[in-house]
Amino acid sequence: MPLLSNHIAVVTGAGSGIGRAIAGGYAREGARVVVLDINQQAAATTAKEIRDAGGKAESFALDVTRRDDCIAMAKQVADKVGPVSILCNNAGIARRNGMLGAAEAVINDWEDIIAINLNGVFNVTHAFLGALRASKGRIVNIGSIQSFVHLRTPSSPAYTASKHGVLGFTKALAAELGKDGVRVNAIGPGFIETPLNEKVRAANPDLVKVFIDHTPLGRPGKPEDIVGPAIFLASDMSAYVSGSIVMVDGGYRTI
Ligand code: NAI
Repeated sequence: MPLLSNHIAVVTGAGSGIGRAIAGGYAREGARVVVLDINQQAAATTAKEIRDAGGKAESFALDVTRRDDCIAMAKQVADKVGPVSILCNNAGIARRNGMLGAAEAVINDWEDIIAINLNGVFNVTHAFLGALRASKGRIVNIGSIQSFVHLRTPSSPAYTASKHGVLGFTKALAAELGKDGVRVNAIGPGFIETPLNEKVRAANPDLVKVFIDHTPLGRPGKPEDIVGPAIFLASDMSAYVSGSIVMVDGGYRTI
């Protein structure tokens, strides 16, 4: 019996990498998946892959930074698809500039990263809150090892702050929505090979080595490594789990 039958699952940033894998995994478990991404073509491709594999999916373009668009999208999904019971807030960007660069660049990084990685999670969650409360839904937020630490490889304080924020938001929301039967959890991926870090990986094999040397399982993760935990947190298998973060980091934080 599939784990997510009769669920409608929204996944943001599902046109690529981790979100695309989670969307596919949710569909394999029987959910009807709403694929959202700022990149309409990429979202459409993910939805087509799911349908070609026999699953149910539709796609819409959504920039999670646009609060009004998120509200309009929640209405559109309710009308065209149905009542959403799973929300995976996955859309995110990463940059690796510190605080000491040119002021304009530092400020741009801060504004873009917080707008997408943190405000975006708020915007989409707030827009779908009515549906999620009505369905006793589940929210799965994508955090990071940077929900806890700043990396020993170059990374931006903005990214670290945004992912600490995602974890804090997860806990606060779990506390507030528990009485409605809504569960809110996060996943903390380690170093996962996706288009997000493709250029960095190609240009900096030394950085990759620092990461892998610090990862007990001794390999980078793949998007598919995130899928099982994402299904677990969305399904009844985690019926008494809320306010948690499941680290999917090859053990990175243990050493
Ligand atoms: P990716 O770059 O492969 O995919 C991100 C997707 O988000 C893209 O399809 C992009 O178009 C979309 N997106 C970007 N801005 C958006 C916006 N404003 N509105 C809607 N969609 C938008 O990245 P990846 O690696 O799959 O990352 C997914 C999540 O996982 C992000 O939140 C990231 O911070 C997080 N993460 C990734 C890690 C990694 O090593 N790849 C490690 C830890 C966390």
